[in-house]
Amino acid sequence: MSLRPAILIARKVFPEVVERLREFCEVDRNETDQVLGPTDLVQRLQGKVGALTTGSERIDAALLAACPQLRVVCNIAVGFNNFDVPAMTAAGVMATNTPDVLTETTADFGFALLMATARRMAESEHFLRAGQWNRWALDMFAGAEVHGSTLGILGMGRIGQAIARRGAHGFGMNVIYHNRSRLDAATEADCKASYVSKAQLLAQADHLILVVPYSPEAHHAIGAAEFAQMKPTATLVNIARGGIVDDAALALALRERRIAAAGLDVFEGEPKVHPDLLTVPNVVLTPHIASATLKTRRAMADLAADNLIAYLTTGRALTPLNAIVTEA
Ligand code: GLV
Repeated sequence: MSLRPAILIARKVFPEVVERLREFCEVDRNETDQVLGPTDLVQRLQGKVGALTTGSERIDAALLAACPQLRVVCNIAVGFNNFDVPAMTAAGVMATNTPDVLTETTADFGFALLMATARRMAESEHFLRAGQWNRWALDMFAGAEVHGSTLGILGMGRIGQAIARRGAHGFGMNVIYHNRSRLDAATEADCKASYVSKAQLLAQADHLILVVPYSPEAHHAIGAAEFAQMKPTATLVNIARGGIVDDAALALALRERRIAAAGLDVFEGEPKVHPDLLTVPNVVLTPHIASATLKTRRAMADLAADNLIAYLTTGRALTPLNAIVTEA
């Protein structure tokens, strides 16, 4: 019988990453790439001490109770709302995520989505493809100014700061932010960003971008009451998590032009998308791809594999979420 630790790779990953893991572990992998539901995941995890997951696999108390051999689960994502971290800590299971390696790529995408939304790129492209363009017109798809406008950022972690730098230094934007805690003065100066209350953020932003992690407290942090406080000319961009925005209320606000436009990379209950969002023209919709460059997705998978190997070979992870769980 092999003494090498048995692990599960819960979704399809790059072959090079599988090979690296095979140097240290007995690897079972979900080659179909279909998301494993709770029952199948428990079944596939039997006898496994480690797992590589994505945001689609839920690791909670029920699963942990059914998989008592599990010691480490490494998410290929910076967000980890699919993990019940306190339950993992209580079960002595190390949890890791993939911070830093995706920061700049995700900020690039946030900015791209903001620009596509403000400048009505998807809406105008659909118009062109539909053969509706028969003459140039002065006000055709006139959108909102990006340079020199006020960029509001809700959530000022690493990605929020990288977006602030792009806005302030690249586009001459006036950057305001709201966060649970205020940044230190040096970081605020580097980002050229001013701290404001949530109410001020909503009222002043020409473009509001959401970069807060999902938590039950953040559920529907942006809904009808918030749209009512925003400028009717404002755009909203969500690259954080579904559920932070009330998608039904957003579709209504877009239809009634209570705000001008939205760009969404994440959705409540994704990969399902609220049907009303599919019928309003002033929204740009992308399928959760903010970190999706080949280089960054590879770096994320590598970091998850490094975490798994480090923890199983040294008892220490590189980017732990519950560092309290360490092995001697
Ligand atoms: C993607 O959403 C991530 O959390 O990395």
